[in-house]
Amino acid sequence: MQITHRPRRNRRSEAVRQMVQETRIHPSQLINPFFLVDGQGIKQEIPSMPGVYRFSIDEALKEAAACESLGLRNFILFPAIAEAHKDAYATWSYHPDCFYLKAIAAFKEALPDCTVITDVAMDPYSSDGHDGIYRDGIILNDETLAVLGKMAVAQAEAGADIMGPSDMMDGRVGYIREALDKAGFPHVAIMSYTAKYASCFYGPFRDALDSAPKHGNKLTYQMHPANRREALTEAESDIYEGADYLMVKPALAYLDIISDLKANSNLPIVAYNVSGEYSMIKASAEKGWVNEEAAMLEVLTAIRRAGADIIITYFARKYAEFFKNTIQ
Ligand code: PBG
Repeated sequence: MQITHRPRRNRRSEAVRQMVQETRIHPSQLINPFFLVDGQGIKQEIPSMPGVYRFSIDEALKEAAACESLGLRNFILFPAIAEAHKDAYATWSYHPDCFYLKAIAAFKEALPDCTVITDVAMDPYSSDGHDGIYRDGIILNDETLAVLGKMAVAQAEAGADIMGPSDMMDGRVGYIREALDKAGFPHVAIMSYTAKYASCFYGPFRDALDSAPKHGNKLTYQMHPANRREALTEAESDIYEGADYLMVKPALAYLDIISDLKANSNLPIVAYNVSGEYSMIKASAEKGWVNEEAAMLEVLTAIRRAGADIIITYFARKYAEFFKNTIQ
């Protein structure tokens, strides 16, 4: 029998397999999330996210310095706000005493070469736990934009490099762009959560920040998991409004969306490998059902293969360590 094509020839040795490998991940393409709390000397593990902590600023800076020495220097910061500071309009988000703004400044001062990406959304500061202003069961879109604009300018003043609007209000990218430009921050970029789906995989994150909605759900602003073309509609408006990056979130159950955005835009595509996706692997590894390192590598590779240029992941430090020990 004559077999002309033998694809196995290109799998014969480790060297050949590496030579033909199509997708690679460098730590510079990863973004490491931080959950921050007010106070000092705090490093508190999040029960539903083993290996992930809530840090006070001083402890976060130690962790960030360790990340930087591994070549991991892009950080996205999320605040856990005390209940006493929450209100219906998220006013604490732009109050000069808000520790989150101080944390942004502290990161930039301690690690000037790192990239600080912020979260622009009301939910950590909202007494209703929603990303927009909530009144009588309705999210007020346009009124929310004014809050987001103030929040973004306060974060830019604190020294943030990139804004990450995660709220899914209509028109927010354009509104934030204009607010930043008017306030003298034309160089501050916007990494838009373009296609953010209403997902159960955010559960552990909401535990971490204690930010779950107090009433209702997020279905009137986050996207329905059944919709694919709608992501392109969101992408069109984000591009038009001046986004610098387009994000898909979550990542794993949405690889088709990552691929679609990649095919339809030349902007960098970001995928958010979210909390529940992380915790699923941790939980099954704890039970001995999957190998944690192998699962991490397979998942991150699949997200890159689908088209993500950049990945936000709770595995970032673990991957950077793996890269240093085995690839570099
Ligand atoms: C909210 C926000 C969420 C995440 C990032 N920003 C949760 C939500 O929309 O309820 C989730 C990230 C994760 O699960 O890792 N603005």
